[in-house]
Order: sequence, then structure tokens, then C-alpha cells
Amino acid sequence: MNNFSTKNKCAKPFHEIPGPKELPGIGNSWRFAPIIGQHKIEQLDKVMLQLHEVYGNIVKVSGLIGHPDLLFVFDGDEIRNTFRREEVLPHRPAMPSLHHYKEVLHKDFFGDCPGVIGVHGKKWDNFRARVQQVMLQANAAKKYISPLNEIADDFLDHLEVILDEKSELPGKFLPELYKWALESVCRVALDTRLGCLSQNSNPESKKIIAAINTFFWRVAEVELRLPIWRFYKTKSYKEYTGALDIFRDLCMKHISVAMRKINMEKEVNLEHVSLLENILKETKSEKIATVLALDLMLVGVDTTSVAITSIMLQLSQNPDKQDKLYEELVKVLPAYNSQIKPETLEHLPFLKACIKEALRMYPVVLGNGRSLQSDATICGYNVPKGTHVIFPHYVLSNKEEYFPEPYRFIPERWMKNVKESQKDIHRFISLPFGYGRRTCLGRRFAEAEMAILISKIFRKYNVRYNYGPMTYKVSPTYIPNKPLKFQLTKREY
Ligand code: HEM
Repeated sequence: MNNFSTKNKCAKPFHEIPGPKELPGIGNSWRFAPIIGQHKIEQLDKVMLQLHEVYGNIVKVSGLIGHPDLLFVFDGDEIRNTFRREEVLPHRPAMPSLHHYKEVLHKDFFGDCPGVIGVHGKKWDNFRARVQQVMLQANAAKKYISPLNEIADDFLDHLEVILDEKSELPGKFLPELYKWALESVCRVALDTRLGCLSQNSNPESKKIIAAINTFFWRVAEVELRLPIWRFYKTKSYKEYTGALDIFRDLCMKHISVAMRKINMEKEVNLEHVSLLENILKETKSEKIATVLALDLMLVGVDTTSVAITSIMLQLSQNPDKQDKLYEELVKVLPAYNSQIKPETLEHLPFLKACIKEALRMYPVVLGNGRSLQSDATICGYNVPKGTHVIFPHYVLSNKEEYFPEPYRFIPERWMKNVKESQKDIHRFISLPFGYGRRTCLGRRFAEAEMAILISKIFRKYNVRYNYGPMTYKVSPTYIPNKPLKFQLTKREY
């Protein structure tokens, strides 16, 4: 155990950790300032790679205005040690503006029940303990399969409508995927179909689609740039909180409808109890169900949408792998519109490997982090409590040292009993859903959601991308930066 009193005397002092030098008065913040700065926030991927190449396995970036020191750790064993020692009350330093929304702006509403996103300490622990069992239990995913099938089928119909004369999807395909993801999350968390995929969408779904787009545009500005909103409510901040208000109202409205429905039901068929019903029955709290639904909407839409684009890109650029996936799919889905059942997903090992491999190469969340809750020794240096330790998974999972031929899409490396598989994959390098007690709460849902949509798309179409290699940017998820004009050609059978 490392704390102040047991500081490692053999370890080197914190100030000796290599890293970019601070300028007097403005520290290192200027490096990210517009025009004069050398780094663009959208290129955090390249910045992290550069920090690693220039300074080595541990790099300190200090003197960031309004931010504690950042410590980048480029070493699998040290990442494992840090994750494990922070397990009591893991503190992920993310989304301070959402923290402000919940704990300052709307303190009256959230009170002791602020959810998990942007929340830390005891409040996070209490909330997570009440919902975790229902969200992550082994058979939880089974309950999602049927509604997710229905929504994926609707999305495939929607694709036919938005394809152009060259059978290409619109360059702005990501906002179309947001509609699919939003519809899926709300079906599960609010027990409702919003109608985002319908050709005649209703006023409520139009409003919520507009709010989700505003939110994802603004969240990057509010969270990644200098936190001016702490002193002055910028236009971006007002739009961001306005979108949050719309989501909150939507959740409150639908949860109270669901609550009334449940109270009226005399007999409950436990087989078909939805996730929301389960949460309401377990917690007996409308507030918990509302706040949970809000959190799931905030992090459960762009994540899966972006992941789908990366998986589609890799498969379209590797036709041999796409053919192999198709062979696997025809065996379990005799027709392109066959329904996917829970047991179908158990017979798609190559599909699962494709998803893992795409997320290794392009993790949706570039890196994870923990704010140290006590002093630690990392890479032979004493590191004080409060430091934000960043695990740059994107950089490490694309390093030859951890994954041979890292820039090649080789799903087989994740499969058991396959020649190309790597027996000794370091377990802490590619962690797309995080780790431990703070691991992604929507993981089972996301995995089922992605497997169903990818199966349906690649069972029905041959997918190509005719516009060369893709570039990515940080926004704040790691998103493709060129028009996503996938070309879809219907398979013959
Ligand atoms: C490909 C899709 C997704 C990826 C890659 C992803 C990734 C992550 C990561 C890296 C974390 C941080 C974990 C940690 O700190 O150790 C996280 C947290 C979380 N995710 Fe996901 N996620 C995805 C989809 C979803 C979906 C669909 C939902 C909701 C329906 C969701 C809900 C959450 C929640 C609520 C947390 C916060 C957990 C906590 O702090 O206790 N995620 N996710």
C-alpha cells in the first residue's frame, strides 16, 4: 500500500518525471491554445504518440490551467497495477461539465442520486450498487435481443431510403447511426419506441434527435477546450445544458408512464420483464430509473455508433475477412431477414473477433484514466494523490510490442484454437470497455446491439468504402474524419 507515510524511499521524485517544459505563468496550457499552440485537441491521438516517442513510458504534462497534472503511462504492467490499486472507489476524471450540471446547476433534482457519469466517491458507489446487478447480470442481454432485432430491421429499411443512386450512404452517416442507437437505448431504458427511424418522425423524436446532435457537437467544445464555462456561460455551454434539459424531461415523462403501467399490472410474467421494469422493481425508485436512463442516453449513443463505423470500415477494407464473416453468417441466418435469437449470437465467434479487433485498432474511447486516491509508485517514480493517470490504450494497442503487425486487421488473433491467435495477449492493453468496478455499465447491451446490427448489415450487403484510407479525430470519442460513404451492394442470397 502506498500513501504519504509509506512513500517509496527508493523511488525517484515526481518532479523528475520527463515531460514538456512549462512556460512561466501559463504552464503547458498554451500548447493547446488556438493558433499559437502546437497541439490540436482533435489530434490528441498524435499528441499522445508524440509524448511517448519523445519522453518514454511515463510522461508528465503539468501546468494545465484548471486541471491537475496529467500522467501518461505507456506500460501494460503499470496500467494493470494502477487499475487494481484504485479499485475501492475508482475515480475516473471525466466530464467535469456534466458533474457541474448535476451537482451545481440541478442539485435540487439530482441530490444524493446523481447517477454514475461525472459522479465520484460514495454517491457513485451507492448508485452503481443499486443498478449494476440488473445491468450486468449474465442473462440481461437476452432481454434486449428481441427489441434490438426489431430496431435493427427498421434501420436496414432506413438504409434503403438513404442510399443514393450509386448505392452509397450519405457522408454524414454517423448522425443516422445516432438515430438507431438512440432508439435502441430508449427502448431498453424507457420502455418506449421514440420513432427516430420512422420516415414520418413525430415532433418528440425530431426534438430529441436535434438535441442529441447538439449535445455531441457541444460536448467536445465544453469538455476538451479551456473550461471557460466555469466563469462565463458560453453559447456552447448553454446549448449543451439545454440539450441535457431536453433529455432529462424526456426521461422523467416516460419513466412516470412506465411506473403507472407497472403499478396497474396485476400479474407479472418474469420471463418478459424489461430492463426498466427490473430496475423499478429492484430499486422501487422512479428517480433512480430516470437518472439511469439519462446516463445511458448520454454515453450509449455515440459510443456504439462510432464503433459500428470502425467495424464497417475495417471489414470493407479487408474483403477476405468480410467474406469469412459472410460465410459464418449464412450458416446461422438462412435468410437476410432471419431473426437473431440469443443462441444465434453464441455461434458467431468470428463476428465477435471482428468487433474486438476493430476496437483494438480504433478504440472508441482513446484512453481511460483514474485520479489517484492515494500516493503511488509508478514506473519507479513517486506519484502524489490527486494526479490524473491516463492509460493511452490507442497508442499501446497499436504497438508491435503488444500486438504483432498492429496495423493489420487480424480478427483471428482473438480466437481460440486458430493458428494466427496470440496466446499471450496482455489483458490491460486493449480494454475498450474499461476495467473493474467502474467498467462500462452498458457493455452487455452494447455488445448485443453491435453484433445484431453488424450481422444484419453484412448478411444482406457486400460493403465497400471507395475513398481510400480513413483519418480519425478526437471529438471527444475517436471518430472517422472523412465522409462515410459506404457502398452497399445486396448479396444474391
Ligand atoms: C462500443 C460501445 C461502448 C464502449 C466502447 C464503451 C466504453 C466505455 C468505457 C471505456 C467506459 C469507462 C470504464 C472505466 O472507467 O473503466 C464506459 C463507462 C460507461 N458506459 Fe460504456 N461504452 C460503450 C457503450 C455503452 C452503452 C451502449 C451504454 C449504455 C446503454 C454505456 C454505458 C456506460 C456507463 C453508464 C458507464 C459509466 C460506468 C461508471 O462510471 O460506473 N456504454 N464505457
